[in-house]
Formats: sequence, C-alpha cells, structure tokens
Amino acid sequence: MSYSNKMELKFLSKSQNESFARTVIAAFAAQLDPTVEEIADIKTAVSEAVTNSIIHGYEGKIDYIILKAQIEGNKLTVEVIDNGVGIEDIEKAMEPLYTTKPDEDRSGMGFTVMQTFMDELVVESEKGKGTKVRMTKYINSGK
Ligand SMILES: Nc1ncnc2c1ncn2[C@@H]1O[C@H](COP(=O)(O)OP(=O)(O)OP(=O)(O)O)[C@@H](O)[C@H]1O
Ligand SMILES: [Mg+2]
Repeated sequence: MSYSNKMELKFLSKSQNESFARTVIAAFAAQLDPTVEEIADIKTAVSEAVTNSIIHGYEGKIDYIILKAQIEGNKLTVEVIDNGVGIEDIEKAMEPLYTTKPDEDRSGMGFTVMQTFMDELVVESEKGKGTKVRMTKYINSGK
C-alpha cells in the first residue's frame, strides 16, 4: 500500500493568514520531497485560492477558511473552503481575465494561475453558501 497522510486547518480570513497558509502547505507537502519549483507552484496556487476566499468569498468580513490537504502516494490534494457569497457562474469565473472586481486591481488570473501550477482544478460553489476549490498535483512524478 502506498504512503498516505492528511491534515486539516481552520483560520480566519485575514490577509496575514495568506502567508500562514502558504507556509503550512509547504511544510505538509515537504514529506513528498518535492522540488523547489514544485513547492513554489503549490504555495502560489494555495495563496491564490485563499486570497479569493478573503476578497471575494467573505468580501473583507472575518470568518473561517478551511485548508485541507491529503497525500496518497505521490499525489497531493489540497482543498480551500469558505462559507462566503459563492460563485454564480463557475465556468465564467474560471475564464482567464474574468474578474468581478476590476476596480480593485484584480486581473482575473487567479484560477488560471491555479490551473497552470497544479495538475487538476475543480471548483464547487453555491450562491450564498460558499466555495470549495480542490487542486491536485503529482509530486516528483519524473523521479
Ligand atoms: N472564493 C470565492 N468566492 C466567491 N467568488 C469567487 C471566489 N473565488 C473566485 N471568485 C470569483 O471568480 C472570479 C475570478 O477569480 P480569479 O481568482 O480568477 O480572479 P480575481 O480574483 O478576480 O483576480 P486575481 O486573482 O487575478 O487578483 C472573481 O473575480 C470572483 O468573482
Ligand atoms: Mg483571485
């Protein structure tokens, strides 16, 4: 049977916790012996998802964000979950350059970044209920 592990963390939607979440996911993923580049990709993707929960999900309101991560063999799965406003049209939200906050210096590239740096991206969301972003990356698959 291949190696497996799991973690779950709950933190407030404060901008300080963006770097906290990045550090936590890097520390958890370290047991897969990732390359420096893989670690950077995972941190960037998680950071985009957490920023989205803070800015769009909770719109500055302070509430809990949940970060879950799971290792199965060389596969890392990360979930970022909020109970915020939710996304009306997920397909549209995931299009490059699409943003609902163009006036706030947002470029609409967050989901595209997550898609680029991870191997799989699944977004589940319900208006008024919240959003769950699930990302998967295969670590050291070339080793
Ligand atoms: N957790 C979330 N809750 C509610 N809406 C979200 C959430 N995440 C993303 N969205 C919606 O999806 C859109 C696209 O997100 P994306 O991260 O791609 O771009 P952005 O956040 O607007 O800009 P950037 O990430 O480049 O700063 C957002 O503008 C927002 O409307
Ligand atoms: Mg974003």
